[in-house]
Amino acid sequence: MSVTDVATATGVVVGRVEDVPPGEGRAFVAGGEQVAVFRLRDGSLHATQAACPHAGGPLADGQSDVDVLVCPLHQYAYRWSDGASTSGAAPVRVFPVREVDGDLVVTL
Ligand code: FES
Repeated sequence: MSVTDVATATGVVVGRVEDVPPGEGRAFVAGGEQVAVFRLRDGSLHATQAACPHAGGPLADGQSDVDVLVCPLHQYAYRWSDGASTSGAAPVRVFPVREVDGDLVVTL
């Protein structure tokens, strides 16, 4: 089974790890859905819906730390672990994401 077969069997390849600089996020399309993928400075990967559930802010441009993602528009924070807002807003959808031989694989 090739790398692509492995990835598509359990997720969607959205790009390469090097497409997301450490400490930043990037927006991708996965299975017709806009997702934001983040590579934290500790090397961990996270993925959320690309548009903030509050008012559509571009979450890929948000600031993050090991626990939360902060939307750049109104600074609502969302936990990586479950997408819950620490500000009382609606939760953001989070998706499993992993690296497979340099590919970013998101499971929707
Ligand atoms: S649009 Fe994200 S916090 Fe308002």
